Amino acid sequence: MPQTTLTSGSTYWPFKKYFGVYNRSIKDPEAFWAEEARKLEWFKTWDKVLDWQPPYAKWFVGGTLNASYLCVDRHVKTWRRSKVAIYWEGEPGDTRVLSYSTLYREVNKFASVLLNLGMKKGDRIALYLPMIPELPIAMLACARIGATHTVIFSGFSAQALADRVNDTGARLLITADAGFRRGKPVALKRIADEALEITPSVEKMLVVRRANIPVVMTPGRDVWLHELMDQASLFVNPDPMDSLHPLYILYTSGTTGKPKGIVHGTGGYLTFNHSVYKWVFDIKEESVYWCTADVGWVTGHSSIVYAPLMHGAAIVLYEGAPDYPSIDRWWDIIEKYGVTIFYTSPTAIRMLMRYGEQEIEKHDLSSLELLGSVGEPINPEAWAWYYKHIGKEKCPVVDTWWQTETGGIMISPAPAIECPPLKPGSATFPLPGILADVVDEKGESMPPEERGILVIKAPWPGIFLGVYGDPKRYVESYWSKFPGIYYTGDYAIKDKDGYYWILGRADEVLKIAGHRIGTVEIEDAAVSHPAVAEAGVASIPDPIKGEAIVIFVILKEGFSPSPAIKAEIKDLIRKSIGPIASPEQVYFVSKLPKTRSGKIMRRILKAVATSASIGDLTTLEDESSIEEVKKVYEELKKEV
Ligand code: WTA
Repeated sequence: MPQTTLTSGSTYWPFKKYFGVYNRSIKDPEAFWAEEARKLEWFKTWDKVLDWQPPYAKWFVGGTLNASYLCVDRHVKTWRRSKVAIYWEGEPGDTRVLSYSTLYREVNKFASVLLNLGMKKGDRIALYLPMIPELPIAMLACARIGATHTVIFSGFSAQALADRVNDTGARLLITADAGFRRGKPVALKRIADEALEITPSVEKMLVVRRANIPVVMTPGRDVWLHELMDQASLFVNPDPMDSLHPLYILYTSGTTGKPKGIVHGTGGYLTFNHSVYKWVFDIKEESVYWCTADVGWVTGHSSIVYAPLMHGAAIVLYEGAPDYPSIDRWWDIIEKYGVTIFYTSPTAIRMLMRYGEQEIEKHDLSSLELLGSVGEPINPEAWAWYYKHIGKEKCPVVDTWWQTETGGIMISPAPAIECPPLKPGSATFPLPGILADVVDEKGESMPPEERGILVIKAPWPGIFLGVYGDPKRYVESYWSKFPGIYYTGDYAIKDKDGYYWILGRADEVLKIAGHRIGTVEIEDAAVSHPAVAEAGVASIPDPIKGEAIVIFVILKEGFSPSPAIKAEIKDLIRKSIGPIASPEQVYFVSKLPKTRSGKIMRRILKAVATSASIGDLTTLEDESSIEEVKKVYEELKKEV
């Protein structure tokens, strides 16, 4: 078990502080969170800390604040005005460095552009942008005027983009001519043009010039950002927002085909993130913080934009692929900007591990103080490699468990509050204020060392406000299994020392290279092929990506299996969702294993694809007869 010290030299083991803070937070959560919330600057203090009417939690009721004010205005009043806010590195090697005062100016001007385009408080604005400074600037500009932003990952297809835009009813779409990926411009404007053919709510498209590639501008609809920035005002008032004002909507996959629009508020979300980034990363104004996620995921929202900027840290924003043009690109960036906190995913670690240590040794990584991991379980081997070769055995590795819905980190080591020693592969303990547990199907606590479902038994300030436009789904997906208790959808074990080990999803959601994808979404895309009658998706273990997708397809009468159909199905999935959902294998079969109620038994599909045995059939819920399932399994094995 690695033991280490913070760079200040203070030993944070033995762990005295963590349990004290944790116990205090659970004993009187409202007093605890009020004290945390006071660390932000509010325009008006709340009347009530928490209004908890299960399953709806309202935090800091009656308080007003502004996210953009907290991320920029607060700093320009201090010496931080002339310190770095953003180190940006484009994939081709071009760079931009923005101080807090530059960021302040750009956010104000961008907010003025939005107002001049007729945008107002309560409007939804969709962002489909590469990893360029305009992305955080646009988010903060939306927050400044009270428009709710919805960032859509720039790897999504036109169809996926249109689905999300339509769900929010956004009036404006912000995109760029292109972004760079592996040396090539990805023509985002062209994809957005295609999406906008089927998004009636969008009135305007604001285009950032990034790659200087030719684009077609539709008169009356499309406008260049740089032209409007020239006429923008230098100051826009940061509008006081109610604590419960929706700061953003972010789409994530669930158990049905339709992605869920997770809505986050302002006061609770910001308070929670302000606190957890302090506890977990010990983030401060002198930190150079690099989270390698894309801003299109929740990790990017909390870990690239809101939390580090509230703390006045410098963030690194990198546009491109980790191994482009050479496999030491990331190590080069760490050295170049003197990164102190580095936060990435197990998939990335496993990929870079494969290249060996030679490239790492070419770089001076001694600025690093702390390493983080997020998005999927980290295997102890990858953990140990990360700790040894990147952290040189002096940086703690924080394995942080959280979700789009939780808004911020929930279970993780917290070095800044003297947490218990690390165990590679374990997210260790819940953070202060988080009442986690591992329970059985009835909601009873599991004994140590036994697998159960991870739940959260009390509200926390980062909790999402709901599923956009679908209150029923909010209740059904998260609160109906155990009334009043938040269902995470993950399996976990608590070991005999009380450490949490997260084991992956308990529902129909896959984690492919850390990306959350619903099996039903992929199946829906496959059955839209004219030759496909039915499809069933499962995942198989992948040494790099954690999981890879396999799809079992039944063809319609009159069609026979062919490599061409296989390629078309793959292509269709890529078009409808994006390359991240591309299946590794397509199997043509004549039958799918199903329960009596018609649910596909993915566990059987997985067993077939991995040549594993079907395991303990007695635990199959709502099963068809065991004999029948065995028969289908044997038949499928012959077919694949
Ligand atoms: C998984 C990402 C193991 C988990 C922030 C969760 C993890 C889902 C970890 C949420 C971790 C996240 N160890 N599994 N440290 N962190 N997960 O919404 O299955 O993209 O439910 O949020 O990722 O994924 P999401």
